[in-house]
Amino acid sequence: MSHDVGLPLWLLAELTYRCPLQCPYCSNPLDYAQYQEELTTDEWYDVFDQARQMGAVQLGFSGGEPLVRQDLEALVAYAHNKGFYTNLITSGMGLNESRIANLKQAGLDHIQISFQASDPVVNNALAGSKKAFEQKYEMAQLVKAYDYPMVLNFVIHRQNIDQIDQIIELCLELGADTVELAICQFYGWAFENMQGLLPTQAQLVRAERITNAYRQKIADNNIKCKLIFVVPDYYEERPKACMDGWGKIFLTVAPDGTALPCHAARQLPLMFPNVRDTQLSHIWYDSPSFNEFRGDAWMPDMCQNCEDKERDYGGCRCQAFMLTGDANNADPVCGKSPYHHLIEEARANSASPTPFDDLLFRNPKNSKLANEKLTNK
Ligand code: FES
Repeated sequence: MSHDVGLPLWLLAELTYRCPLQCPYCSNPLDYAQYQEELTTDEWYDVFDQARQMGAVQLGFSGGEPLVRQDLEALVAYAHNKGFYTNLITSGMGLNESRIANLKQAGLDHIQISFQASDPVVNNALAGSKKAFEQKYEMAQLVKAYDYPMVLNFVIHRQNIDQIDQIIELCLELGADTVELAICQFYGWAFENMQGLLPTQAQLVRAERITNAYRQKIADNNIKCKLIFVVPDYYEERPKACMDGWGKIFLTVAPDGTALPCHAARQLPLMFPNVRDTQLSHIWYDSPSFNEFRGDAWMPDMCQNCEDKERDYGGCRCQAFMLTGDANNADPVCGKSPYHHLIEEARANSASPTPFDDLLFRNPKNSKLANEKLTNK
């Protein structure tokens, strides 16, 4: 199979599942708390060496909160020296001026800071930290002062979508180069909290209209800021080509060394290999789990005969699994899927959302409970 497999151009290093915040839409696995054996600094160096030899060029540092790792600066320096373009995906918690300066010196190319909301009270309630907003605000200013190209990321959902104008204003005030207004996708904790997070169609239409008006205003005033508005799958009729196709260009390494074709795949009933005992090239080219959904032989007849199969590859395998119990099904987002009614039901349920206080927050206690539930299934 190896002859027609592409290169793992994009490596995502999930350095840790630890995080000081507890966002209810976190895409980490529900049972993250059971994976405590993080790769060491040297083990990460080895992963970077192998990935680079295989042609990887982009390296994202994420988590959890990657700043929890005190060796982050050393990892960035190592990756930079190997020729990676490096990107830090952070909540900003654990950042300070000396770390920003040290990361700059280590060669970090790019920082993406996530906010929960433009309103400090809403932001801090979602993050589960009284200091979160102030810290993020200060760090965003410093990131700019140290001349990084700055991406601000807002996960947009039921609890903040009606403040999208204030969110964009905040980003303009902070001088963001790029703003990702990513409407919540439903993986990990977000899937559990869907009914409290999925906006209604009317909210979505309004948010997109306001974003377009700001785009015009930004262009008219020659402001350098790109607004990216990501529509959620649940309001699409055709699925996305998730990860640009399974095992095509994305390779995620989880904190404990488990290698995954996407950050959400750990929940699938597949045996994923671990970089601690298997060479990355073997994982990428030859492991059964990475080959499971390559090509089209695995597809149900409906997808096999679909003219879009080379465009969307049958959609997201994780979404198919979460919604139908079988990752071999077409993604139910597809209007042709026999399970598409599940998406329509979720849309209808968004009219009566779960109250904020009933959201399941991402923290070790809730993760342990989720793990017990999963093992008792
Ligand atoms: Fe895993 Fe789409 S998130 S394949």
